[in-house]
Amino acid sequence: MGVSFDKIDGAILLNFEIQPAANPTPEKERAAKLTDPGFGRVFTDHMAIVRYNQAKGWHGARVESRANFPLDPATAVLHYAQEIFEGLKAYKRDDGGVNLFRPDANAKRFWNSADRMAMAPLPEAVFVEAVEQLVRTDRAWMPGGEGSLYLRPFMIASEVFLGVKPSADYIFAVIASPVGSYFKGGPAPVSIWVSENYTRAAIGGTGAVKCGGNYAASLRAQAEAIQHGCDQVVFLDAVERRYIEELGGMNIFFVFEDGSLLTPPLGTILPGITRDSIIALAKDSGTRVREEAYTIDQWRANAASGKLKEAFACGTAAVISPIGKVCSASGDFVINGGAAGPVAMGLRKKLVDIQYGRAADPHNWIKKVF
Ligand SMILES: Cc1ncc(COP(=O)(O)O)c(C=O)c1O
Repeated sequence: MGVSFDKIDGAILLNFEIQPAANPTPEKERAAKLTDPGFGRVFTDHMAIVRYNQAKGWHGARVESRANFPLDPATAVLHYAQEIFEGLKAYKRDDGGVNLFRPDANAKRFWNSADRMAMAPLPEAVFVEAVEQLVRTDRAWMPGGEGSLYLRPFMIASEVFLGVKPSADYIFAVIASPVGSYFKGGPAPVSIWVSENYTRAAIGGTGAVKCGGNYAASLRAQAEAIQHGCDQVVFLDAVERRYIEELGGMNIFFVFEDGSLLTPPLGTILPGITRDSIIALAKDSGTRVREEAYTIDQWRANAASGKLKEAFACGTAAVISPIGKVCSASGDFVINGGAAGPVAMGLRKKLVDIQYGRAADPHNWIKKVF
């Protein structure tokens, strides 16, 4: 099979076979696609792929031409949604090298997601190696400037079987998409719709892991946000329906007049890597950070009294997005006069400078691919 195994720090590391695409995108076409790639619409020439079955375990690690998956109509993922994914980015440094930001954290979260969804756990070293090998192979697709290469590792249940049970077979793959900025107009303030009709996650559910089903279930609420003229939806807790949890695809922070930060505690929300990084950076500079429950009523009252100075959303795709306006069935309110605030923008710059290698990396978050 041409597959060999190495042991590194006790972990199985698969050796990836690199099979370059026979017909890669011509240079001119690639350059045109990289001019204004938007988000999630342009893809590179290759994908990394590793398969799992019970007899061989993880095997067949390859980087190969990006292609369709032939799927039998009875493939388990198509019926029972046993699927997980991750999202991280590669950043081009000024010296031409390429940085990954905390890929080990994504690998760990992917492991936890697999565990929650009763899927075969992928060794964290294999996750990171797959990402690195794909970035190396598709290096020509790295956008310059403030662009980045968005990496999408995912795993699907690939057993052909109709029955509600964990699949015996899995496909793990990584695809890559050159991206500009997530929100049109860059980090301009976004408007948020508070969903009072739909919840995202309950205790004991899957909110803390990154499974596709969470996102399918959020789409109706996001559509409601758009109908009300908002950019994004924010969910409340499923029990009391008053504690702020997170957005459809981002965590949330509040900034108070004394300079302190507050973010909802972990539990039912996704443990965002950007969230964790912001907490660390804020603490580094002596800022007090609380991971505490915060209600929509407190948010509204603190915005009115001036106690709340800023609010912002954060995640890999958008980094930090200031929140300018909050809308709900019970009325709208504005934060910081609807403008981006200095704390959000300062933290954004700190984080982005580390990601692009323009600032020191005191927490060893950067993994250089080149
Ligand atoms: C629901 C949800 N919350 C938060 C985040 C932010 O996580 P991260 O900072 O790791 O991108 C994401 C994005 O992955 C998400 O989908």
